[in-house]
Amino acid sequence: MSVSKNFESVYRASIEQPEAFWREQADLIEWSKPFDTVCDYSNPPFAKWFVGGETNLCHNAVDRHVAHRPDDAALIFVSTETDTERTYSFRELRDEVQTMAAVLKAQGVAKGDRVLIYMPMIPEAAFAMLACARIGAIHSVVFGGFASVSLASRIDDCTPKAIVSADAGSRGGKVVPYKPLLDEALRIAKHQPTSVVLVNRGLSDMPMRTGRDIDYAQAAEAHRGETVPCEPMAATDPSYILYTSGTTGKPKGVQRDTGGYAVALAASIKHIFMGQAGETYFSTSDIGWVVGHSYIIYGPLIAGMATVMYEGLPIRPDAGIWWQMVEKYRVSVMFSAPTAVRVLKKYDSKFIKDADLSSLKALFLAGEPLDEPTARWISEELGKPIIDNYWQTETGWPILSLANGIEPQTTKFGSPGIAMCGYNVKVIDEGTGQDITTPNTKGVVAIEGPLPPGCMQTVWQDDARFVKTYWESIPGRLIYSTFDWGIRDESGYYFILGRTDDVINVAGHRLGTREIEESIASHKAIMEVAVVGVEDKLKGQVAMAFAVLKDAAAYATDADKLKLEGELMKVVDEQLGAVARPARIRFVSLLPKTRSGKLLRRAIQAVCEQRDPGDLTTMDDPSALAQIKSLVAG
Ligand code: PRX
Repeated sequence: MSVSKNFESVYRASIEQPEAFWREQADLIEWSKPFDTVCDYSNPPFAKWFVGGETNLCHNAVDRHVAHRPDDAALIFVSTETDTERTYSFRELRDEVQTMAAVLKAQGVAKGDRVLIYMPMIPEAAFAMLACARIGAIHSVVFGGFASVSLASRIDDCTPKAIVSADAGSRGGKVVPYKPLLDEALRIAKHQPTSVVLVNRGLSDMPMRTGRDIDYAQAAEAHRGETVPCEPMAATDPSYILYTSGTTGKPKGVQRDTGGYAVALAASIKHIFMGQAGETYFSTSDIGWVVGHSYIIYGPLIAGMATVMYEGLPIRPDAGIWWQMVEKYRVSVMFSAPTAVRVLKKYDSKFIKDADLSSLKALFLAGEPLDEPTARWISEELGKPIIDNYWQTETGWPILSLANGIEPQTTKFGSPGIAMCGYNVKVIDEGTGQDITTPNTKGVVAIEGPLPPGCMQTVWQDDARFVKTYWESIPGRLIYSTFDWGIRDESGYYFILGRTDDVINVAGHRLGTREIEESIASHKAIMEVAVVGVEDKLKGQVAMAFAVLKDAAAYATDADKLKLEGELMKVVDEQLGAVARPARIRFVSLLPKTRSGKLLRRAIQAVCEQRDPGDLTTMDDPSALAQIKSLVAG
């Protein structure tokens, strides 16, 4: 039983004496060689954590627990796409990971080589990630089903020695063949891997290229039972590359270290997620996203928790599936995204009420702003704390949240919380570069270096881009920009007001599209809304809004819609002033979003301006953009 401490003093210690703070956290993991220096920041903004130390992510996630609790559940796989359910104990997981590691080694994969993983949410994807960590190969997971052109650019950027993939994924019962997408990507790419290891799920045809393609089942048979030791890795050795979108088309490979990441995840599971060894963690994310890396694979396993890997939709076979899983596997920590909750909100709450959720301690939500109605609804239905957390692919773990594992904190609806240990968060005046100290004043959310352990080391093969993009955007200061607007209130709670790069300028006035969205969404008829800035000859830009109605049938005629549009304009006029009033507010049945639930404002904007919307590979449902296109054309 941990003694409850005062969060503020712990936080202050993490900022004022970071070496002492992180030295203590480093005990949460096992090291094969102790480190000499906690943090080397002699070459800012490049921070090196736990210099001289050696450890291994796979050892800490798997083997370490085999020693103590070999038969406890480690990986719980549930697929409502293929009606499969299987639990792997820590011992079984170690054996599977060793087999995958042996297969990769036999293909010549060695320490430092890259392995690109293009997989559905199946256990072999987890085996592949952990096998890379085991042998010191750097994995780069690309979301399964990603379009060929984007996949090719990632292949060319990280030049993998091997690719691990599968015949197909499945979504809502529909098979999505991956192999043809991969073959096409390899046709386009300049770089060619030595081998492509393929898991055949029997879902789709999988023509094999002789000399390159390897059937995983056959290869695994040949290597099953082999021992592959965990490679001792320097704490500062890269563990993985994860691509994220930037403002240019060139993929931006976020590079993560080994030791710092392991320590940061272990600390976050304890302080923020309140997870304990032997409990079960269920993150509804995907391994293609950062949440999947940190909180499906590495975080829970490093903490000795069982982790649930789910392939399927939240509403299939019905909207109760997640809650049934929580009941069945006694999930204690759950992690999802606001957008998923908004989907579930459309369904009967009996799906929640019917399940025994007594094991669940809290639901964590991240990835996009958590609006108050959604937070209130799910908190009332579940009767559990809802904990927002704000972070980025770049940081790998929460920047803002509530560290209830250190000291219980009050939730403020609309705020993802306060700065987490190790993050020296500032609100900066983007014009002057000065700190904003007056509460409730808007500025850029920035983090003073060194970034804490676990955050990105650099952009893969592009240190200059790392420095220029993230550290030199604020005049006169070397400080990490999140590219998010925010305010901090008197008690240190932050409110995130949207990306600095989604700002619009109407007749000289700077407006956050997010603020206009909030204003429109405060009307009872509106479920959700997207606002973008559209080029206007007179005003520079005007706001354009696309809204989803709670009850479309109530506004069936054009006259009804026009009347509502007028009402909504009035709301904006009243809340933000006429300058923020959108030129039009149109109604659609859904909004274009990524699979992780992020609004594709830039694509909407492009369509409104009759430009090419660009790379849409991350888009969930293309019909959403088509609706907007036809409205704009009309
Ligand atoms: O704009 C912020 C938003 O998502 C961005 C980071 O997205 P990604 O790299 O995909 O990482 C997601 C990790 C959870 C941020 O710059 N964002 C993320 N979480 C929140 C959020 N906005 C508001 N509230 C959040 N909790």
